[in-house]
Amino acid sequence: MSSRTKLGVIGAGGHGKVVADTAERAGWSEVVFFDPRFGAENQRHAHWPLTGLPDNAASYTCDGYFVAIGNSHARKQWCEWLLEHGLPLISLIDPASVVSQYARLDVGVLVVAGAVVNADAHIAQGVIVNTRAAIDHDCTIGAYSHVCPGAALAGTVAVGEHSWLGIGCQVRQGIRIGSNVTVGAGATVVSDIQDGLTVVGTPARSQ
Ligand SMILES: CC(C)(COP(=O)(O)OP(=O)(O)OC[C@H]1O[C@@H](n2cnc3c(N)ncnc32)[C@H](O)[C@@H]1OP(=O)(O)O)[C@@H](O)C(=O)NCCC(=O)NCCS
Repeated sequence: MSSRTKLGVIGAGGHGKVVADTAERAGWSEVVFFDPRFGAENQRHAHWPLTGLPDNAASYTCDGYFVAIGNSHARKQWCEWLLEHGLPLISLIDPASVVSQYARLDVGVLVVAGAVVNADAHIAQGVIVNTRAAIDHDCTIGAYSHVCPGAALAGTVAVGEHSWLGIGCQVRQGIRIGSNVTVGAGATVVSDIQDGLTVVGTPARSQ
C-alpha cells in the first residue's frame, strides 16, 4: 500500500482496540473510530477519536477502512456496504504475525500478533485470525469466520462461513467444518462437523 495514513475503524468495542493497535503497528499513522451507536462528534474510544457514522458515502474520506465488529453478520453487512460504495476495505496483518507469501488473504481480514498462516492457506473476506492462532498449509477459512486466540488448525482443514472456532481449540488435519458452526473453547476436533452445530470437548461432540 502506498499511503497508510488515516484508517477508519467501524466498531468501537474491545475488538476495535485490538484492530486499532494492530493498525498502528502495521504502519497506519492515524486511526479514527466510527460507531453507529454514538451520534455526537469528538468523543473518544480509549486512545482514539470516535464519532458517529456519516450518512453518505461521500463523507468517508479515510485512506482505508476496517470493520471491527465481532458479530459475523454485522461485520459482513458493513464490509459489503463499504465495497458497494467503492470505499477501500483493507486487511490488517500484524507485523508480529507470520503470513506465508503463498497464502491468499481476501479483503477485510485481520491477522493479530503471534498468528501464523502457512503456505497455500486461503483466508476469505472478513475473517478474524486472532492472537496466536495457527492455520496450517492448504486450510481454507470461509468468509466472516473467526479463528479465536490460540486455536490450532492442522493442514488442509476446511471451515465454512460464519463459523466460530473457540479459544485454544485444535483441529486434526483434513477435517471439514461447516458454516455457522461453533467449536467450544479447548475442544479437539477429530471428525467433520455439519453446518450449524456447536461442539465441545475432546473429542469434540455436538452439545
Ligand atoms: C461452547 C460455548 C459457545 C457454549 O456456550 P453456552 O451455550 O453459553 O454454554 P454454557 O456455558 O451454558 O454451558 C453448557 C454446558 O456445556 C459445557 N461447556 C460449555 N463450554 C464448554 C467447553 N468449551 N468445553 C467443554 N464443555 C463446555 C458447560 O460446562 C455446560 O455443561 P453442563 O450442562 O453439564 O453444566 C462456550 O462455552 C465456548 O466455549 N465459547 C468459546 C469462547 C471463546 O472462545 N471466546 C474467545 C473470544 S475471542
